[in-house]
Amino acid sequence: MEKTLAIIKPDAVERNLIGKILDRIESNEFRIAAMKRTRLTLPVVEGFYNVHKDRHFFKDLTASMCTGPVVLMVMARDNAIPEWRKLMGATNPKDADAGTIRKDFAIDIGKNSVHGSDSAENAAFEISYFFSQTEIQE
Ligand code: CMP
Repeated sequence: MEKTLAIIKPDAVERNLIGKILDRIESNEFRIAAMKRTRLTLPVVEGFYNVHKDRHFFKDLTASMCTGPVVLMVMARDNAIPEWRKLMGATNPKDADAGTIRKDFAIDIGKNSVHGSDSAENAAFEISYFFSQTEIQE
């Protein structure tokens, strides 16, 4: 079983979409191996998205992740990283396929409702950034 880090972002938590998104996740063979609802601070978000620190959208991205609570999850299944990216849909909801979370729930590229790790290396970093080993049970 592969693991990935998922975030339900502030725009989705604000619109009471946690349950609908969790239903999509559990209906698609993912096990939720760890989960917490929390509010992130700017330094924590800046560290999490450090890979994007030189991108033009970094300031907006980090600010928007601090506008309200988020749900952080470790999710496990076969091919969890690509399967979660498929279920989320394209980063920009305008480009997302029908039936994906971003197509159905996201507002725009900044308020795109969910995050997922994009590689095994980033998944390992992102999971350990938010969860200790003892908090994760498959
Ligand atoms: P996420 O999967 O969380 O990874 C980085 C985030 O940056 C992305 O989703 C978007 O919400 C946000 N973002 C804002 N503008 C852009 C852009 N032009 N290209 C990619 N990501 C962007």
